[in-house]
Formats: sequence, structure tokens, C-alpha cells
Amino acid sequence: MRYLVTSALPYANGKLHVGHVAGAYLPADIFVRWLRLHHEDVVYICGTDEHGTPISISADREGISPAEVVKRYHESIRDAFIALNISFDNFSGTARPRHSEISQEFFTSLYDKGHVIPRSTKQFYCEHDRRFLPDRYVEGICPRCQASGARGDQCDACGQIYETTTLVEPRCKICGNQPVIRETTHWYLQLDDFREKLTEWIAKKDYWKENVRNFMLNLLEQGLIERPITRDLSWGVPVPLADAAGKVLYVWFEAPIGYISSTAEWAEKTGQPERWKDYWLDPETRLIHFIGKDNIIFHALIWPAVLMGQDKTYCLPHDIPANEFMNLEGQKISTSRNWAIWVDEFLQKFPADYLRYYLACNAPEKGDSDFSFKDFQQKVNGDLNNVLGNLANRVFAFAERNFQGKIRSKQLSLAGKAVLDEALDLYCQIDDGYRDYQVKKNSKLALDIARLGNRYFDERKPWAEIKTAPDSVEETLYVCLTLLSLVSIALYPIIPESMNRLRSMLGLGIAEDWECPELQADYVLQDTKPLFYKLEDAQIEAEIAKLKENSAHNSASGVYEPIKTEISYDGFAQVDIRVATVLEAEAVPKTSKLLRLRVDIGSEKRELVAGIAEHYKAEDLVGKQVLMVVNLEPKMIRGIRSHGMILAVHSEGKLRLAVPSASCRPGSVVK
Ligand code: MF3
Ligand code: ZN
Repeated sequence: MRYLVTSALPYANGKLHVGHVAGAYLPADIFVRWLRLHHEDVVYICGTDEHGTPISISADREGISPAEVVKRYHESIRDAFIALNISFDNFSGTARPRHSEISQEFFTSLYDKGHVIPRSTKQFYCEHDRRFLPDRYVEGICPRCQASGARGDQCDACGQIYETTTLVEPRCKICGNQPVIRETTHWYLQLDDFREKLTEWIAKKDYWKENVRNFMLNLLEQGLIERPITRDLSWGVPVPLADAAGKVLYVWFEAPIGYISSTAEWAEKTGQPERWKDYWLDPETRLIHFIGKDNIIFHALIWPAVLMGQDKTYCLPHDIPANEFMNLEGQKISTSRNWAIWVDEFLQKFPADYLRYYLACNAPEKGDSDFSFKDFQQKVNGDLNNVLGNLANRVFAFAERNFQGKIRSKQLSLAGKAVLDEALDLYCQIDDGYRDYQVKKNSKLALDIARLGNRYFDERKPWAEIKTAPDSVEETLYVCLTLLSLVSIALYPIIPESMNRLRSMLGLGIAEDWECPELQADYVLQDTKPLFYKLEDAQIEAEIAKLKENSAHNSASGVYEPIKTEISYDGFAQVDIRVATVLEAEAVPKTSKLLRLRVDIGSEKRELVAGIAEHYKAEDLVGKQVLMVVNLEPKMIRGIRSHGMILAVHSEGKLRLAVPSASCRPGSVVK
């Protein structure tokens, strides 16, 4: 099987932050590493997306050329990926000549077949700056969801695309003036020409992630409108037509072609320039695009249509694992407010594997996830150190003290066999998981192998047996070392550096040379050292403080949270807030933050869990009235069905319940 794996090409317009990594890069790298371990034929492709209005806007703003912006960020992003051990086979860029050539060929192919048609159209034009304002050069209110900050043709808040001129209250991004509308000619991709083919193709993708497939089926149902694929701009790939001076290809038309031009560049580097065709022109190739959810429409709809309209027969995407977003300490990542963790800075302080492990545990697969420094510390200290590091330490120390680090393979007792069988079963699940992009689940399953080892070691009590039954102790150690060797493969895609270090201590070759599960080897331990180190509270607190300080500095709105996107009256009316009287309150066992409450909301009594135990004593709450959202879907928290949420205010590190200013009848509605 041939695999061609891609990660979305990041815009060469800013540094890489952890949110990017969690969505489109780390999951792809993990997938690819697993395939390579199993000797699959796989090429992993990326590069920077070097056109588009964000880049020329940055250049305008800084008074430098777009090419200079691109060079700076291409290098910065490339270096961050290297530091993070993202193992691309090639990392290219879309401003390179080969890319222009292929992109123009793509356009021409579609044009010659009549899939691209010119139309006279209306465009925003700034009379002050004397230029057209495509895409992000104009900002306004989304005509679909009414969010502010919407771009010319797409709204980040609702993900929808629309006709540029339907944008409400447009403003020129350069000077802030209201633009006028002028006639211009653009070329439109006739998406509807591909509707049947697309529908047929999508129908077979029942293994796709639901978010992607449903999104697509929805779009197909709504009908496909033609989309302009040219722009009035100077920075970009020129439109290869005689009557198109001053026009370039729309960035979203040519950027995905970067996957091909980067593969062609890779082929050239390998000395076989035609080799890219083995992948792209073979319909059996498994082309897999790792992206963030904001890119679904381009990869699952427009890009396949563009591929279908070519003279050459290209393979189509086999799968499009789109991830959700990662937030940071409970807030949306925002580069403009500097509410972000920059990969280069982070890796100066923490090992790449710590970040990789944490992002894997916290992968935004089914829903948005959150990066929290405390949680990062806990995962590194609790999982990597206390579970995996601890198993390695105790087994190594014992083997060295009593067997000079040489442990022979054994005829196993039933107990030993049972443990290895259990581990192999986990290993098979992990294999399935990686092939199905289940990064989060696998980080847990792989640690379960180490947990199994710790439990087995405790049960066997080798310290008690060493005088009387050294053979039995050697078996215990052999089993544990075998578990460690399994973990070294199972976790290799996630934390490759550490797992290769572990393998070298076990006297095994690097994972990249691994053949199959090693169950029979003798072990000769080498140069054993602690695998991980713990993160101190002070270091973590300093990071949190720095994050807050940097963002406050950079933020026009000071230390305030950004105001959320505007909602309609109807949207607000859906939230049902009522007065509730607390009937009972008690701490939730084994937690420091949670209280379990029973409340009266007039029409019924409810149970819920509230994270207020650090601020309120249970006994002080009984009889109090609070405000509560009563129509929130129930959620299981620590085995308790929590149905509703009471409202509270966070202020300077304290939490204060929101209460009615005078006693009310329980169930009274807040409006
Ligand atoms: N630059 C885009 C983004 O960051 C992704 C481009 S993916 C490609 O959202 F396929 F178009 F290259
Ligand atoms: Zn202007």
C-alpha cells in the first residue's frame, strides 16, 4: 500500500504555536511514524503556504516585500518543526517556481475543459488606496451568522463562505474607510460540474470522521455555487491567460497544489524526478490530508473537484482527518493578543517529547481541547515519570544490582505469560488505534502497558524473593523488560526521542530498525539513566505568569477577556436561567474543587456538581439562593449526573456566586 500523507500548509505569516501542532501536524507525524515502523511505503509532505492576503497585508504593514515576510516565517516554521521532530519527507513552499508551473497547468486544464468561466463581477475597491480589496483586505459583519471580524469571503466564526459583496458594514483593512464597489473580471470554477462525481465519491467514504462527512453531505445538498478562483492582487501565481494581467490565482485554489509541487521537489531531491507520479498518478494511493476543521471545505470539496478536472488522472483524498481546535488555559488561542504558546520558545525550556506527549493526550479529536500548564505538568510528572519512568528505574536498578544488567530470556510461568498476553492485546489495540488516527486513546493504552508492569512487579515482590529464588526474580525482570520494549515501540510515534533512548538502555537497536515484537531477546542493559525528569511547580507557575503578562502587554484591551462573538436575541433566549434554592451540599470525595448540590428550582429538584469547593464551604450554602442555567444538557462528573450549572463570577483569583439581590420564589426566570 502506498501512502501520501500531508499536513495543511501553514501560512508563512507567523510563528508556529501549539494549537497548530495539536491539530494538523503532530497527529500526522504520529500516523506516519507508525506506518514507517511497519515498513509501509509512505511519503509525508508539507511546506509553507506563501500567498494570500494575510501575507501581503503583513508586508504592507511592515513596509517590506511579501517575499521577505515569507522567507522569515518559512525558516521560523521549518525550524520549529525540526525542533519538534516532525518528520516531513519534504518541506517546501508555494512561492517556488515549480509550484507556479504546476498551478498554472492545473488552471489551464480546467479552463480548457470549460470548468472555469470568466465573469464580470462586483468587488470592493478602496478609493483611498486605489486598489481592489480581495478577501482579508476587507473586514465586516458576516451575512450568515452576524459575527464581526468576518473576512471578504469567509467567516471564521461560522466557517461559511459567501459572496464578497454581501458582507455587512465593510471596511478597508489598510485605511479603515468604507470601500466602494467596482466592476472587475474573475474566473469562476464551475463546482456544480463535479456534483455527481463528488457525490459518488463521498458516498464511499463511510469511514470518514463524522464532522467531515456530514459537513460535506450538507454542502452537496445545498447545491454547489461557482467560486471565483482569481484575485486582483500582485502577490501570487499569475493567471495564465493573455487577458488576465494583474490577476493571480486565489490562494485556496493553488495552495493544495503545494502538496503536489512539494512531492515533485522531494522526488527531485531523491534523484528520481519522476517519482512523484508513482504517488499522485496512482488511483490506489492512499492520499491522507491532516487538517484543522476550518479547512474542511477546501480539502473535501473544492480540492477533489480540482483534481477531478485535470487532464492527468490524480488520486483523490482517501481520508481527511480533520481535528478540532485547541484552546489555551480556557480561552481561544489568539495570536493578535499573544494568547498563544510559541513552539520555538516552549522548546527552549521543555523537551520536545514532553510537548508531544501532552498534545497527544490532549488531542482535539472529537471536540475542542484545552492546553493548561498545570495539566501539562501533571501529565509529565504523573504519566511519564511516575508510571513509565518509575517502571524503567526500578527494573533497571534491580537488574543491575543483582544480575549485572544481564537478563536472560526464560521459559515463562503462567503468570508471566498472562502478563505478556495482556500487553500484546493492548499492543494490538494500539496498532488499530494508530491506523485510525487515535492518538489520544493510544497515549493512554501505551501507558497502560507500563501500568501493567508496575502492578506485576509489585505483585511478584522480587525484593523478597531475591535471596531464595533468583530464577523467579530473573523471570520477573525479563517480563518487565519485555513490557518496556513493547512500550518503546508503542509510544515511539508519540515520543520518539525518549523511546529510542529507552531502547538503547535496553540494548536494542533504534525503533526505526525494528522488525517485529521482540519477545525472545536476552537483555544486556546499557548505560541506564532516568528517562524523564519532573517539572517543578515554580517553573510551571512562572510560565503561567509569563503567558498572562505577555498577553496583557500585547492586548489592546488590557487584562480583560475578549468579548465573545455576538449572538442574536433568539440565541440568548435559548438560555434558561432561574433562581434555585440550595437544599443540600457536600464535597465530592477525592476532589478539592467539587461540591455536589441538590437544589430546588420550583418545578423540580435537581442535582448538580459545581467547581466551587475552594471558595465556599458546603454547610454555608444550604438555604442560599443562586442563579442556575436549567436547560443545559446533563453531564456525568465523577459518576454524578450533573444537570444544570450555577453562575459565578471570577474576579482576581476569587470566585463569587451570582445571586438574586433579594429572596425570590425558586424557579423564577431570569431575563
Ligand atoms: N494555510 C492554510 C491555513 O493555515 C492551510 C492551507 S492547506 C492547503 O489555514 F492545502 F491549502 F495547502
Ligand atoms: Zn483603504
